Order: sequence, then structure tokens, then C-alpha cells
Amino acid sequence: MNRIFNIFFILILIMVMACEADEAEVAVYDATPYLFTFPENFGDPELPKDNILTKEGVKLGKMLFYEKALSKDGTQACASCHVQKDGFSDKNQFSKGVDGLLGGRQAMPIFNMAWHKTGFFWDGRSLTLREQSLKPIQDPLEMHETLENVVSKLTANKTYTDQFIRAFGTPEVNSTKVSLALEQFMMTIVSFDSKYDQYLAGKLTLSESEERGRSLFFTEYNQFFPDLSGADCAHCHSGPNFENGEFMNNGLDKDSDFTDYGREKVSNFAFDRASFLMPSLRNVAHTAPYMHDGRFKTLEEVVEHYNSGVKMSSTVSPLIVPTISKGLGLSAQDKTDLVNFLKTLSDQKFLTNPEYAQ
Ligand code: HEC
Ligand code: HEC
Repeated sequence: MNRIFNIFFILILIMVMACEADEAEVAVYDATPYLFTFPENFGDPELPKDNILTKEGVKLGKMLFYEKALSKDGTQACASCHVQKDGFSDKNQFSKGVDGLLGGRQAMPIFNMAWHKTGFFWDGRSLTLREQSLKPIQDPLEMHETLENVVSKLTANKTYTDQFIRAFGTPEVNSTKVSLALEQFMMTIVSFDSKYDQYLAGKLTLSESEERGRSLFFTEYNQFFPDLSGADCAHCHSGPNFENGEFMNNGLDKDSDFTDYGREKVSNFAFDRASFLMPSLRNVAHTAPYMHDGRFKTLEEVVEHYNSGVKMSSTVSPLIVPTISKGLGLSAQDKTDLVNFLKTLSDQKFLTNPEYAQ
């Protein structure tokens, strides 16, 4: 059952912006409210109140997302590293920027951003999407362009200045408007129609293996009664997006092997060392490789990490410590079942939705 998120303020916004619009340039200016729909079990999204989604703004954001002129040499768009069929992530372990240099982290998938409440990037260093969206443009390891150049390239392009009028009422291009449009588009990329969602809605049943995997995923670890013990994934990957918004260390390395301090670089707290924002597991079958450094190529490798590879360290999450000494004790069948369950989180509609495509 979908609930419609209605935006009333839009009318006021349109009136205010219409007054500001240059009447010689704009015959009719009427930004159309974008109807953002979402399932009830997701809880309220956090849509920016000062950047109301409009069809014209979202369209401008999509044009910019696929625009290679945002990069220094015109070879790279946001979509070069955030590929729709790969869940808007990158198949490469580390993404290559315009100068041929590799970044230090795996590109993150982009969907359900309106439920991301604790920040963006693996270390949460950007609190809003608009702030986030200007960083890859300027990052020397990514698009390596100045905002001034982006503004002058877009200003010289009538297709863009026309769309800026439709979206914001004036043809003036500036980096704030670029970031607001990108924020609007990224907010509209949503995914909630996976096989698992259809199962929850009673529209289909899971296979025997998927069902066993589901049960393992949601059952807690029990070191005293191995027969009752599960894989304990939902302890952390919880809620409708299979993430709890926290920065955690899931035991990838021991202290002496830490190479990326993650959240600590933002918070300056030693207890955040090597902790990273927990990713959503939706569409995870399409977002390989895995973890902040893309160290695992397959879901089988990920499951084996949790089964037998979790390392003790000064900052490892207390939630996972009980599983370290004996491991999860999963059988080969258990591991297959768990992977089969993770595959039910794929949402073909999202992966192929033409609204998000160029
Ligand atoms: C060269 C590859 C590359 C390009 C180009 C690129 N990104 Fe990214 N993106 C990444 C990587 C790598 C990360 C993770 C970086 C980190 O956490 O330090 C990321 C993270 C993100 C995130 C964070 C998602 C989350 O869940 O927190 C968003 C949103 C995003 N990028 C949007 C964009 C936009 C918008 C553009 C274009 C203006 C863009 N990216 C261009 C590689 C790229
Ligand atoms: C203690 C909390 C915790 C538990 C328990 C946990 N995870 Fe995670 N998971 C995380 C964190 C944190 C990350 C990101 C770590 C990083 O990249 O450094 C992560 C990353 C992942 C990823 C990679 C996603 C991506 O896009 O790169 C997968 C897949 C995953 N977990 C699946 C599972 C499964 C399956 C289980 C149960 C066997 C599980 N997790 C148990 C916290 C946890």
C-alpha cells in the first residue's frame, strides 16, 4: 500500500519564484510538484524542506548526473561510477578518476537516500546530499573540475539555461542550484519492489532455500545452543533498508592492519577508528565488490567473512564479538541459503527504471 507524500508548499514556492523570474525569458513558469511515493513500512523520509522536489528540478538533476561536462576533460559523469544496472555503484574495486588515478574506497550505491539520516559517504562526512554532490566534481581523484568552470560550461549551453529557468525560475547557473538539482534527482531514486518486498506483501512465496536463509538472517547467534543459532545479520542490518544508520567496525581487520581510519577522520574519536557507515543490503547481488574497500568480490566471500573471518580489534562492534571465538558455525547449505536470501533483495524495477536512466 503506497502513501502519497503531498507537497503543499510547492504552490507558494512557485508563486515566489515566478515573481523572481525574468519575464522576457520565461513565457510560463510553473514547476510541477513531484509526487514522492513510498511504502508505509518505510517510515517518513527526510526530504529537504528547503528544496522541494519538482519534476523540472528532478529532470535538471538527472541531466547533470549524466553530464560529462561536470568533469575536467569532459570524459566522466556521476553515472560513470554510479551505474544504474549495478545499483548505481561501480563494478571496479576502486573507481578511476579523469586523471587515471584510483580513489581509495568503493563507490557506494545510490537509492533510498531520503532514509539516510546519518550522513553520506562511507565516513558520513557530508550531512546533506547537496553538500555531498559538489565533492566528486572537485575531487582530484574523481572529476577534478572547478565549480567556476562547471558554471561557465553550463551557462554557455542553452539546453541547460532553459532547464534552469524551468526548475528555478531564472537562467542563472550557479553551483548552489547545481547541487540542489542533483539532490532532487538523487532523492527520487528509490527501491522497494524486490522479491522480498513482494513476499512481505503476500504476493509470492520464497523458495525453501531463500526461506531458510531469511530465517538465518534474522535469528540471533546462540553460542550455547548451536541448533537454535542463526547468522545474526539483522542485529545490525535492520529496518526496511537493512541498515541502522550507524558507523561500525564489522571485524574486517585487526588493529595492526587498519589502513583506513574511516569515521575517526570525521569525528576525531578513537573509538570510531576503522568504522564505516553500514550499507543497505537492498540490491546487494548487483553492487559487488563489497565493503568500503571492495575487498570481497562475491556474496559467498562476505558470508564466509562473517562465518569464520571476523577479527578482534580495539574498535570491533560489541554486537559481533560473541561470534568471534567459534565463528557462526554455518554449514555449506546454510551459506548457500543465506546468499539466496540476499538475492531476494534485488529490485529489477529499480535496476531498469527508465525514470532514472539517461
Ligand atoms: C570516479 C568515480 C566517481 C564519480 C565520478 C562520482 N562518484 Fe559518487 N562516489 C564514489 C565513491 C568512491 C564514493 C564513496 C567515497 C567515500 O565514501 O569516501 C561515492 C559516494 C557517493 C555518494 C554517497 C552515497 C551514500 O550512501 O552515502 C553519493 C550520493 C554520490 N557518490 C553521488 C555522486 C554524484 C552526484 C556524482 C557526480 C557529481 C558522483 N557521485 C560522482 C565514486 C564516484
Ligand atoms: C556488527 C554489525 C554487523 C553485523 C552483525 C553484520 N554486518 Fe554486514 N556490515 C556491517 C558494516 C559496518 C558493514 C560495512 C563495513 C565496511 O565496509 O567497512 C557491513 C557490510 C556488509 C556487506 C557489504 C555491503 C556493500 O555494499 O559493500 C554485506 C553484503 C553484509 N554486510 C552482509 C551481512 C550479512 C549477510 C551478515 C550476517 C551474516 C552481516 N552483514 C552481519 C555491519 C554488520
